[in-house]
Amino acid sequence: MHSNYKAKISAVGHYLPDYVLTNQELEKLVETNDEWIRTRTGISERRILKDPDKASAFMAAEAAKEILQQRKIDPEAIDAIIVATVTPDYMFPATACIAQSMIGAKNAFAFDLSAACSGFLYALETGTSMIESGRYKNVLVIGSDKMSAITDYTDRTTCILFGDGAAGVLLEPADDENGIIDSIMHSEGDMTQTLIQLGGGSRNPASHETVDKKMHYIFQEGRPVFKRATEGMADVSVEIMKKNNLTGDDVDWLVPHQANLRIIDATARRMNLDPAKVMINIDKYGNTTAATIPLCLYDWKDRLNKGDKLILAAFGGGYTWGATYLTWAI
Ligand code: UT7
Repeated sequence: MHSNYKAKISAVGHYLPDYVLTNQELEKLVETNDEWIRTRTGISERRILKDPDKASAFMAAEAAKEILQQRKIDPEAIDAIIVATVTPDYMFPATACIAQSMIGAKNAFAFDLSAACSGFLYALETGTSMIESGRYKNVLVIGSDKMSAITDYTDRTTCILFGDGAAGVLLEPADDENGIIDSIMHSEGDMTQTLIQLGGGSRNPASHETVDKKMHYIFQEGRPVFKRATEGMADVSVEIMKKNNLTGDDVDWLVPHQANLRIIDATARRMNLDPAKVMINIDKYGNTTAATIPLCLYDWKDRLNKGDKLILAAFGGGYTWGATYLTWAI
């Protein structure tokens, strides 16, 4: 910490659509089965935003409203809104601007951040730096992804994995020693082609051909991504523990990105962590990309105590990965 200001998480909010897409329903769509999905990924069901008029901005705004209500502050008090997403409502303008309007945060500047499954951690890093600069007092950091919009429900290797949802936090200057303490962020752009949405950007603008070739859907080569994700998430988690002189006994909670239960288990093992200290909700929501980590914080918030030591860790497309060490400040 080189700044006079330290950031803390002061509130957590979320939004999950009502519709539950079960493994049994997926069995009717593609050649798969509940047992394979559960043993290979840990997923039993995921949520889907069915309303065609609603997308990532709506979910981000609902999560933001819950945060404001929890902290009892006016939307006008928000200085900045960062929405991490790979499923923006539009290529432009930013989903964060649409959410800003929906919640009436008229004094905030708002922008999106694209870092796939590491989106929330990257956004948290950005928001933390803004608080540490001393120039901003209330920064909303939200992960929101409507993955069903880019999922091919005839591709059994990807459609079983993803779900829709949003969650986020409010960052404020800390008032004691608790808050965001350290982080290590990485990117490696050599493997972009293994996890990508090929169509719709400036490289392959939408055309009949991009639609025919299903280029607007998630493409993933599962095995190489799995291998790098397992190494990357475990390495960076151990690295941040060492840097802060923490052992597995010292850490109260691992808050891992929820892509695959086997990746989470491998990370916890490398950290020497009691499995009871690992937040896992992949069974209920699948991989909601930028929303997984704040959704865990939301689901566990009543069990967290002030001063608890948390390691947040993620790995995703880009590749992007990282870990953040914080102590709970609420
Ligand atoms: O969040 C961002 C980062 N993303 C990730 O971290 C995801 C990383 N990857 C994974 O989690 C895993 O690679 C998957 C869950 C996607 C796949 O699991 P896997 O153990 O790596 O399976 P695989 O791709 O090696 O496939 C094993 C077999 C294949 O059959 P053959 O070729 O051995 O005959 C697949 O065709 O399982 C088959 N398979 C399925 N079977 C039933 C693939 N998908 C399915 C399915 N149901 N849904």
